[in-house]
Amino acid sequence: MPADRDRYVIRGGRPLHGEVTVSGSKNAALYALAAALLTPDTVTLRNVPRIADIEEMAAVLRALGADVTIAGETVTLRAAEFTTTVAPADLVAKLRASFLVVGALLARTGEATCVSPGGDVIGSRPLDVHFTGFKALGATVEELDGQHVVRAQRLGGARIFFDYPSVLGTVNVLFAATRAHGHTTIINAAAEPEVEMVAEMLCGMGAQISGHGSATIEVDGVSRLGGTEFSIIADRLEAGTYLLAGVATGGDVRVPNARPEHMDSLIAKLREIGVDVDASNGIRARCAGVLGVTQVQAVPYPGFPTDLQAPMTAALLRAPGVSTVHERVYERRFNYTTELARLGARIEVGDNGIATIHGGAPLTGTAVEALDIRAGAAVVVAGLAAAGETVVGGLRHLDRGYADLEPRLRALGADITRVAG
Ligand code: EPU
Repeated sequence: MPADRDRYVIRGGRPLHGEVTVSGSKNAALYALAAALLTPDTVTLRNVPRIADIEEMAAVLRALGADVTIAGETVTLRAAEFTTTVAPADLVAKLRASFLVVGALLARTGEATCVSPGGDVIGSRPLDVHFTGFKALGATVEELDGQHVVRAQRLGGARIFFDYPSVLGTVNVLFAATRAHGHTTIINAAAEPEVEMVAEMLCGMGAQISGHGSATIEVDGVSRLGGTEFSIIADRLEAGTYLLAGVATGGDVRVPNARPEHMDSLIAKLREIGVDVDASNGIRARCAGVLGVTQVQAVPYPGFPTDLQAPMTAALLRAPGVSTVHERVYERRFNYTTELARLGARIEVGDNGIATIHGGAPLTGTAVEALDIRAGAAVVVAGLAAAGETVVGGLRHLDRGYADLEPRLRALGADITRVAG
């Protein structure tokens, strides 16, 4: 039975209580898989989440000639040599992170051909930052038959300014810079923990990188990278989703392996609305009483993450009064609000990218759709808070990003069942 016809049936209105351990970070793991292309040696990754996106990324790497073995949460990769430098268009169309093969192939072979990647439909997703970086390192970028062809006889270090701190753009250019001759400085780089982590992994492979985790990354190119064994960091977005599900239901949820140092923006906002947050050992968010309203701006790290904007909005439906959420990363990331409206949510989305949430109204279960990964998280969170039965379709999106969502929510006391379509 195709998984995309499956449904979650949620009987909501019960406060979630207890502990949930989250998987390794989806996005960090995707970057780590791509990073393995930078060496002919074996790379072993641990704590890789068991989600559909990892299978898709493995398929992309295999199509280039890499050996990839997935055994539970361990992925072993070896890209001894490539059978092609043309990324498979059908697979790239499914997964945005697949575009990272360009930086890695460029570094290893001096050329890469790839279509524009697919991914969630959440707004315009240009590639100019990637290309600015590749060109600065000495590559040419051409469009041929709808494909991007990136070539370099020799990559040379450069001082590169990014117009925008693109996450994948930073990782892609970092990949190429690790093997460029000389010194590279990336200014206005993405500082997300997942970027910092992959740079740390590259250092373990012999790369010389400093400043990662800040807006300026320095790289001294090396002639060869070697294999490594590396463990993926805990997923701050998954952790945030469970904590917000707890808040939305007036519960008490602890994520013992959440890394508070990666989640300051969420912790601060939860405290601001009156949630009792203990960040001394993992993160515990306990609701006591009525939630207060707030204003949230989704911006690059360390600001509030756009990937938690949707579940945060769902949680704010419980706060009586008016909250606002300003999405400043993607212009079309409020698609899920029409689904929340079916449950009775009152949210107005302005042309200015600001959603005005009139919280405190009761939510009632009905049929809703997960429109993308985080939009799916929002309808699940709202469904857990709503009275009666909520039926969530579009589970293929949630399967892309959340491992074991149903059993993990059940362990917190949720009444949620996956029903085959
Ligand atoms: N942008 C540019 N030029 C570029 C690239 C991006 O202007 O060359 C702009 C985009 O238009 C957008 C903003 O930069 O407004 C953010 O895009 P970014 O490149 O940072 O996003 P991404 O790297 O394509 C990753 C995650 C997303 C996450 C964003 C922002 C992966 C596979 N994807 O995408 O994750 O929302 O960073 O943090 O790592 C998700 O997990 O659900 C997800 C969509």
